[in-house]
Amino acid sequence: MAIAQTLAALVAAASVVVARTPQGFQPASTVDLIVEYGGVVPLNGVVVPRNVTIPQPRVGTLTRLTGTSYAILMIDLDIPTEPPTTLLHWAQTGLTPATTATRITTQTGELSVFLLENGTQTAPITAYFGPNPPARVPLSHRYTQILIDTSDADPEDIQAIRTAAATPRGFNAQTVLTAADLEDEVVAGNFYNVTNPGPVNTTTTTPTNGTGSPTGASPPVRTTLPSGGAALVPGIIAFAAVAAAMFLTM
Ligand SMILES: *[C@@H]1O[C@H](CO)[C@@H](O)[C@H](O)[C@H]1NC(C)=O
Ligand SMILES: *[C@@H]1O[C@H](CO)[C@@H](O)[C@H](O)[C@H]1NC(C)=O
Ligand SMILES: *[C@@H]1O[C@H](CO)[C@@H](O)[C@H](O)[C@H]1NC(C)=O
Ligand SMILES: *[C@@H]1O[C@H](CO)[C@@H](O)[C@H](O)[C@H]1NC(C)=O
Ligand SMILES: *[C@@H]1O[C@H](CO)[C@@H](O)[C@H](O)[C@H]1NC(C)=O
Repeated sequence: MAIAQTLAALVAAASVVVARTPQGFQPASTVDLIVEYGGVVPLNGVVVPRNVTIPQPRVGTLTRLTGTSYAILMIDLDIPTEPPTTLLHWAQTGLTPATTATRITTQTGELSVFLLENGTQTAPITAYFGPNPPARVPLSHRYTQILIDTSDADPEDIQAIRTAAATPRGFNAQTVLTAADLEDEVVAGNFYNVTNPGPVNTTTTTPTNGTGSPTGASPPVRTTLPSGGAALVPGIIAFAAVAAAMFLTM
């Protein structure tokens, strides 16, 4: 128990110093975006069991945001096509930041989070659907979430996101946000790792490249996979070990 608490403390400490969006991802953010699934907060690349990520998460920030309108995007960066591509999993605009913090009890302690609320009941551009990496290489997929300040966006900017989201495959956040004049408005980010337990299915399929189709590419078939709940603990420990290393070298 003492070890678990130490690890939890290291994770909490590390959450102040590690990167938020995955290495190489643009537009990057170094500010924590809290993404919470029923008390599980998979931050900064940790492994999370698929079943935890099925319902739509709550999102928020650790410091209070002062803009009037925000959007969230969630993208799978590791779709196993040739060449590899991306898939948009969630696009929601019209979010407003809470003015008071909400206490969230997580596996690693209490967090005080300013939640993003959908007070205006804005319909999502792309409704949230959870990770489901197929039994293909790579078995592990990175899912990134970015929060965009749309306070000064005009309707054309939002329309640019909507137009791009019609083709979820190959969704390129940098290209889309540049087209929407929002590339410098990413205010927080996160990613986590969901891993198919395998074994890899080597049956060949008709290869699909990432260009999508005018009719709107359909997401991969969402089969029910056994989920590795046990993966969470090693993931957090591995993360804590990295965190500890970073912490000790500071
Ligand atoms: C916002 O409201 C719409 C319509 O009620 C709902 O479908 C969507 O899930 C809500 N989004 C969030 C982030 O709460
Ligand atoms: C995701 O986690 C798995 C362990 O389940 C690890 O082998 C893999 O390298 C991780 N992938 C990334 C991109 O971090
Ligand atoms: C392996 O992939 C093929 C082609 O997509 C599919 O028809 C088959 O059902 C898959 N097998 C398993 C065990 O998932
Ligand atoms: C993707 O597939 C389409 C349709 O088969 C083809 O026209 C296009 O050239 C391909 N793009 C790449 C990058 O392979
Ligand atoms: C996910 O699956 C694990 C193992 O099968 C189970 O212990 C856990 O309760 C599940 N969690 C959710 C949120 O369904």
